[in-house]
Amino acid sequence: NTEISALANHPVIIGGGAAGLMTALQLAPEPVVLLSKAPLGAEASSLWAQGGLAAAMGDDDDPALHLADTIAAGAGLCDESVARRIVHAAPAAVEHLAKLGVAFDRRPDGGWRLGLEAAHSRNRIVHATGDGTGREIMRALIAAVRRCPSIMLLEGVEARSLIVEDNSIRGVLAANAQGPFVIDTARVVLATGGIGGLFLESTNPSGCYGQGLALAARAGAKLSDLEFVQFHPTAFDGPSRPMPLLTEAVRGDGAILIDDTGQRFMADQPGVELAPRDIVARAVWRRRAEGHRVFLDARKHPGAEFAKRYPVVSAFCKMAGIDPATDPIPVRPAVHYHMGGIAVDGEGRSSVDGLWACGEVSRTGLHGANRLASNSLMEAIVCAQWVAGSVKGASCSPPKARVAISPAPAPASDPSAVRPILSQGLGVLRDRLGIERAIRGLYPNARGRSASSDPALVGLMIAVAAWRREESRGGHYRTDFPDALPSAVPSFISLADAVDIA
Ligand code: SIN
Repeated sequence: NTEISALANHPVIIGGGAAGLMTALQLAPEPVVLLSKAPLGAEASSLWAQGGLAAAMGDDDDPALHLADTIAAGAGLCDESVARRIVHAAPAAVEHLAKLGVAFDRRPDGGWRLGLEAAHSRNRIVHATGDGTGREIMRALIAAVRRCPSIMLLEGVEARSLIVEDNSIRGVLAANAQGPFVIDTARVVLATGGIGGLFLESTNPSGCYGQGLALAARAGAKLSDLEFVQFHPTAFDGPSRPMPLLTEAVRGDGAILIDDTGQRFMADQPGVELAPRDIVARAVWRRRAEGHRVFLDARKHPGAEFAKRYPVVSAFCKMAGIDPATDPIPVRPAVHYHMGGIAVDGEGRSSVDGLWACGEVSRTGLHGANRLASNSLMEAIVCAQWVAGSVKGASCSPPKARVAISPAPAPASDPSAVRPILSQGLGVLRDRLGIERAIRGLYPNARGRSASSDPALVGLMIAVAAWRREESRGGHYRTDFPDALPSAVPSFISLADAVDIA
């Protein structure tokens, strides 16, 4: 129909989080199509980000220090040249967001209010409304997108598959409540976010379950480092799913971790509660496995200041009958971020011509085996600008007149069967037997060719990558291979690898 033909031959951006919105804005005034599965502002991990953006903005800071911290946390797997470029671009990205209207928290003298998070050697977390940073950034980006006449925004539209010929993008098969339709295009940007929704316990919106990884894998793209799943050590240990997050900034402000006997069990670890996230998550996991409950104790620091500094966390604690100024807060690890993703180069290009990725779905090489806190929103904003530049400059021949691609019925996917399997076999501590059990559980569903088998396919690729990596490094810890190998090597996987190996 005419509406759909108006969309044809423009870049298509898939994903309505910070990375997708920023890419669309940077492409203006070139017309772009932006597909968002949910209404903008309803479901994206970016919205829930509490901590902020890491950027060397302080007088005592320097991008070289930010780079050193990023590389140390990444446990040997960061791509140093990519990481250097990204951290050097971070301060300008913060200024750019401020110009777009993001009201970052400032000191009375107008300077940036900079928070501290785990494994950062300086206070360098730029934040907004205390712990509401993601919401404030998204507010400003959504307003800018809605004002931008060159962005054709389709909300409630899901991408079900990418149409590829000779390793080049030819279109997107999408679907909305009325049914499936095809958008012809030679340029697609995947900005679909992470995978937390594939697990029972996660801090991500439940709609984030790796759809971009499935789209890319089925299109023939290479994926990298999928075994590296980051668990946040302090999700609120209550009945809500997804689990509310207690931002690491609270520990940066002096809160400590104790168990139900009152013991401060991180006290003798290097870095104590502000050790890299994988180390703290394992310590909390082990304490719980020994039969203890674990609490974040903010009674002394930040104490009475808590509600003012952390209004989001305060609000959900209050609903659970907890006052952080007087009560320890029950916590446990939960899946928070995926370091692995679609393998991309410095411009965000995947191994398929005409396919770019940015944000959590991509693997740029910044995070290595363990992401440094607040490097993710920053990476999304910085890389979206580079991706947009690359998409603009791409010399893609327009798609040939399409030869009758009839939109097949495209059943929606549902990750609920995958969640218990991945949670059991691919948790904070893994071993061969558990991973193999997960592979056997996922394999039958992962072999399907339609989008309904995408969650099982993504789970299978993560499990196979974890099975192949016989070492412990960053977020991937194998109890049967507890040491890191002498050299750190990124892993790569494709759809065919996963299905053949399994
Ligand atoms: C947090 O606020 O603890 C999370 C920040 C992040 O994931 O980078």
